[in-house]
Amino acid sequence: MSEVANISGSIRRRLTLQLLGIAAVLAALLFVMVMTYAKQVAEESQDNILSASATAILDSAAIQSGEVTVDIPYSALSMLGNVSDDRVFYRVVTDGDYLTGYESLPETTAPRGQENHQFITSHYLGESIRMVSATRRLSNAAGPVEVTVSVAQTLKRQRETLERISTNAAYLGFGFFIAAALLGVLTAQSAVRPVQTLANSVSRRGPQDLRAVQAPVPGEMAPLVVALNRFMARLKKSLSRSEEFIAEAAHRIRTPLAVLRTQAEIALRRVERPENRAALKEMIRAIDESSRAAGQLLDHAMVSFRTDHLEVKEINLLELADETLERLRPLAEMQDKTLSLRGDVPPPIKGDAILIQNALSNILDNALKYAPYGEDVQVSVATEGKWVVLSVCDQGPGFAPEDMEQLTERFSRGKNAQDTVGSGLGLTIAEEVAQAHGGHLKLSNRTTKRGACVSFFFPQF
Ligand SMILES: Nc1ncnc2c1ncn2[C@@H]1O[C@H](COP(=O)(O)OP(=O)(O)O)[C@@H](O)[C@H]1O
Ligand SMILES: [Mg+2]
Repeated sequence: MSEVANISGSIRRRLTLQLLGIAAVLAALLFVMVMTYAKQVAEESQDNILSASATAILDSAAIQSGEVTVDIPYSALSMLGNVSDDRVFYRVVTDGDYLTGYESLPETTAPRGQENHQFITSHYLGESIRMVSATRRLSNAAGPVEVTVSVAQTLKRQRETLERISTNAAYLGFGFFIAAALLGVLTAQSAVRPVQTLANSVSRRGPQDLRAVQAPVPGEMAPLVVALNRFMARLKKSLSRSEEFIAEAAHRIRTPLAVLRTQAEIALRRVERPENRAALKEMIRAIDESSRAAGQLLDHAMVSFRTDHLEVKEINLLELADETLERLRPLAEMQDKTLSLRGDVPPPIKGDAILIQNALSNILDNALKYAPYGEDVQVSVATEGKWVVLSVCDQGPGFAPEDMEQLTERFSRGKNAQDTVGSGLGLTIAEEVAQAHGGHLKLSNRTTKRGACVSFFFPQF
């Protein structure tokens, strides 16, 4: 199975980049808006002062002995001069004839605005200026006279102000971008978090765990979870179908094998020639091996089925071990071996008694099988931290160290198993039972004397 996925792009990276892009655009927009507004305000305030100044000058225009006179009030220019070191110009024109001021100031062509004031931005004496022109009609003996006053001011101060505002606006835009970028990164992270949570919860599962994913997920992920759950349901179904098939096959083989064995034994009694007897004995041994294998296949199927539907109860391991030993004692006595049980009453565990008994029988069966000259098989129950440990130790040859890794795999048998009947499922069953109870199985060799130990670790209730 490949552990590497075929990766194309990353949602988080794409989202982060998009959010960064949006943040940059918004920051630029903010900058432009602040600048536009600042410029507008600066221009308006300058225009207002220019207007006031022009109006003040215009107000001082009068007709004295048939001539237009303009007495420029001090305040009219000082209100402009006060503001900054900008230069101020003015010009007064009557009916198109230059009267006083800077004659060469640009002509006003702009449309007349509020209160008949016309504004233009232009150049004068090498500097940019803002200029207002205001007009008023006076009555002379010869008829009406039109007086036009223009007041202009250089834009130096306004430029400086705008430059200062632009620096601040740039800082503001940059700060906004940084804050938005940080939020964007966080958002992108939190957007993909449910995917990571789901992946973690699925990969944390044990190999047998094919239950549907129940944890709540965001709506967008529902199709994925539904598909995953359907897939697991199909997988589970096909697994259990093949378990059922194996169990059924084993069951169907067992009965004819029993018949065959009886027939072979009857034949053995009748036959006298040594080579025929040897052949029949060999046949009986093969039949035994097959029916044992069929039995273990059945056991294994039963264990697989029950681990999916654990019937947990509170169990006292010492009592359970005692019952199991009692059942196997006749078998042990036939081989001149004793089965002994040690241990104090342990804390209870939560488990399926039938499964644990089955697992323990398989381990005891091994101990009796592989320790041919060992006289004693010791079973003990003890508490180790949060575990309740059930151990079976014999005085046989022990496990071959190089085998130990694989012995719990299905159909795996050790080097020392050559002449013994078996199918390589005993330790597999034991390990599956331990794992189904949230525990594990440990194989070891005794350190002080010869012999193998197999220990079940079950978590305390
Ligand atoms: N008590 C034991 N002493 C020595 N070797 C053992 C013992 N129990 C198991 N083994 C080794 O572990 C292997 C796997 O055991 P098991 O899964 O029960 O299969 P089987 O008993 O059918 O061979 C055995 O083939 C044997 O080599
Ligand atoms: Mg075995």
